Amino acid sequence: MHTSLLCANCGQVHDHHQLQNLCTACQRPLVARYDLAGLRGRFRPEVVRQRADRSLWRFWEVLPVDSPDQAVSLGEGGTPLLPCLPRGPFTRFPRLSIKDESFNPTASFKARGMAAAVTRAKALGVSTIALPSAGNAAGAAAYYAARAGMRCILFMPQDTPPANIIESVVAGAEVYLVNGLISDCGKLVRQGCQRFGWFDLSTLKEPFRLEGKKTMGYELPFDLEALRPGGGFRLPDYIFYPAGGGTGLVGMWKAFDEMQQLGWIGSERPRMVLVQAEGCAPIVKAFREQTRHAELFPNAATVASGLRVPVAVGDFLMLEAVRASGGTALTVTDAELMEGVGEIARHQGIYACPEGGAVWKAACHLHATGWLPADAEIVLFNTGSGLKYNHLSEPEGLPVLDHTAADVLDRVRG
Ligand SMILES: Cc1ncc(COP(=O)(O)O)c(C=O)c1O
Repeated sequence: MHTSLLCANCGQVHDHHQLQNLCTACQRPLVARYDLAGLRGRFRPEVVRQRADRSLWRFWEVLPVDSPDQAVSLGEGGTPLLPCLPRGPFTRFPRLSIKDESFNPTASFKARGMAAAVTRAKALGVSTIALPSAGNAAGAAAYYAARAGMRCILFMPQDTPPANIIESVVAGAEVYLVNGLISDCGKLVRQGCQRFGWFDLSTLKEPFRLEGKKTMGYELPFDLEALRPGGGFRLPDYIFYPAGGGTGLVGMWKAFDEMQQLGWIGSERPRMVLVQAEGCAPIVKAFREQTRHAELFPNAATVASGLRVPVAVGDFLMLEAVRASGGTALTVTDAELMEGVGEIARHQGIYACPEGGAVWKAACHLHATGWLPADAEIVLFNTGSGLKYNHLSEPEGLPVLDHTAADVLDRVRG
């Protein structure tokens, strides 16, 4: 169980027995701290390996529970790290793998964060959660709220992928569509929370979604030792992450620091590569301009709805992690990321989300410029399933066969 909640910006300590959102002093994210020195020696990789539970709760000592049975869980985490086979454009990378987060409940990595946040909210007596979502977070929140017996209020941009809207409604969430972006939805949530007393579950404005998502980082050395027998318990050389609010990237960076304090790893870190879409790239712009914070990105537009986040409260945390790791930040166009989806599907048999397509194309770019060595140990995050984005890939002109015609197979390629 965590021992305190600390502001990531000004360091002010907040009462961890109470519901908290942003730092009351500077309005920046709070992060959970644990007694890692006390856990060192008794919470070890061997202990985790022996656990029957494959879900993220096998790391419960560094999550907001006193025991795993307190978790509101749908079996999240424990996703496969799939090695990319040497086919087509993947041939040039002998040690490239995809952490396939589409295996999570509600088919995206958002399940990890929601499991932890809803678990903590339930423990502190919350009855109604509210959040803005550009897509997958909505579906995940709706199902974890249903599991916890909570009311769930969602504000989503009007043009959010239909699958995310439908799954949320089916789970009983109260969905409001907004003629604006996720940042506009966020303002409505804030006002609604003040007026009606809902609990604001916006990413990084609530401390525990980060805790759930950090488990992607905890899983990586276990995944890699299984994938490359004899290679040891270690982190990859490069991690490619599609960033919107940045919770997953910041969470993994926190996990690596915790693992070092636990004595699991040394000071080595992967280079963190942050990928955004050309049409919405506030963090990439700030990275290039070497500023601490990012400005609101005007006219944000991309089909990768998870990346359509024009302003992020944790901008400085993403930028710090990318810079400290010796990583980089870059954009890909919508055409490229959708091409990436097709390539991953045809060559690897994985139906990735557009955000997953983006990181693959970013790796190709960085290899072409000479920045990314082809033989490095590279992990790409496919953060969700392509099934949620079927509306982007509807085939046209498929032949319809008349099965009663004698010559029906003449139209088929043998
Ligand atoms: C599929 C997908 N990938 C990436 C992201 C961005 O995630 P993060 O907020 O951790 O940057 C989202 C967020 O909505 C998403 O749904």
